[in-house]
Amino acid sequence: MKDSRIKFAIIGCGHIGKRHGEMIRRNPEGELVALCDMAPEATLGLEAFGNVPFYNSPAAMLAAHPEAEVVSVCSPNGLHATHTMAALETGKHVVCEKPMALKKSDCEALISKALQVNKNIFCVMQNRYSPPSLWIKEVVHKKILGEIFMVELNCYWNRDDRYYKKGGWKGSSELDGGTLFTQFSHFIDIMFWLFGDIKDIQAKFNNFTHKQTIQFEDSGIVSFNFLNGGMGSINYSTSVWDKNLESSIAVIGSKGSVKIGGQYMDKVEYCHIKDYEMPVLAPTNPANDYGAYKGSASNHHYIIANVIDTLKGRTTITTNAIEGLKVVDIIERIYALKK
Ligand SMILES: NC(=O)c1ccc[n+]([C@@H]2O[C@H](COP(=O)([O-])OP(=O)(O)OC[C@H]3O[C@@H](n4cnc5c(N)ncnc54)[C@H](O)[C@@H]3O)[C@@H](O)[C@H]2O)c1
Repeated sequence: MKDSRIKFAIIGCGHIGKRHGEMIRRNPEGELVALCDMAPEATLGLEAFGNVPFYNSPAAMLAAHPEAEVVSVCSPNGLHATHTMAALETGKHVVCEKPMALKKSDCEALISKALQVNKNIFCVMQNRYSPPSLWIKEVVHKKILGEIFMVELNCYWNRDDRYYKKGGWKGSSELDGGTLFTQFSHFIDIMFWLFGDIKDIQAKFNNFTHKQTIQFEDSGIVSFNFLNGGMGSINYSTSVWDKNLESSIAVIGSKGSVKIGGQYMDKVEYCHIKDYEMPVLAPTNPANDYGAYKGSASNHHYIIANVIDTLKGRTTITTNAIEGLKVVDIIERIYALKK
């Protein structure tokens, strides 16, 4: 009988590449057929992947595995565009870690190529699957909050020397791109997903505690108007001492107010809406835990399941390439104000 499992290969076998690998293997309809990283295999902690063939170059892996249908791009941010393009050019679907690229023009080229070869780009924005995100999406979609007046996004995390290692890609303008790309693009995605695009952007940036480790700002205050009406702000920092403080969103509407908070927007902290009773939500999965520091929701199994379900015709893409582009576009327009 023909094996109907969807065959995946991975470019970049660091923290998140290994998580993709684990989730592909855990899904009974997924199969991991190849791994690639520029670092020597023995340094990557890939023992759990046993005899899955390993390559040091994406080109060699793509050439050797015509059977792979999907490539997970889990390399540093600044390489996503190159690796996604290489995978599309060999006729693969792509699961691209966030952000889709560091420039809107690169996202446009990738979308154009994906259309040409009739393949999908699945963007990884796994926080959309958290119960508070699904709940607020429905509340906003059904206009239960009435007219939206204000949205305040606060992202206050700790990223210190335990995180930024000498010689690593994190903190480099070229490979990381900035704090909004690496740390907070999930929350910009949630804001865009809920309220749409922004205009009339104003911003202030500072580097308080990372002058020795990163080539860009660690903190910022951004304000704007929504095209759909209402105004908003993003306050963010990775200079918080010792551990994450919060990632929260407060929404003030004509019929009520909501605040979702916690370390990674995992708890509804306040809900007071006219003629509305807050339902009981399912518990949120814990954050990705990297030892000393914590990241976003540990929801990658949903991403892999969405890829498989989409390719088998059972659903549609949760975060498509146009939405991936919009997040990059918003961050690019905010950062343009640095110049
Ligand atoms: N969705 C999420 O919540 C989430 C969380 C963490 C990281 N990420 C994203 O995942 C990506 C990887 O982050 P990470 O924390 O796993 O980083 P990492 O440094 O642990 O892993 C990156 C890997 O890519 C490899 N690499 C670098 N250049 C390469 C090349 N030219 N060819 C092949 N491999 C190459 C490195 O050797 C390294 O092993 C980043 O884009 C990051 O933004 C997403």
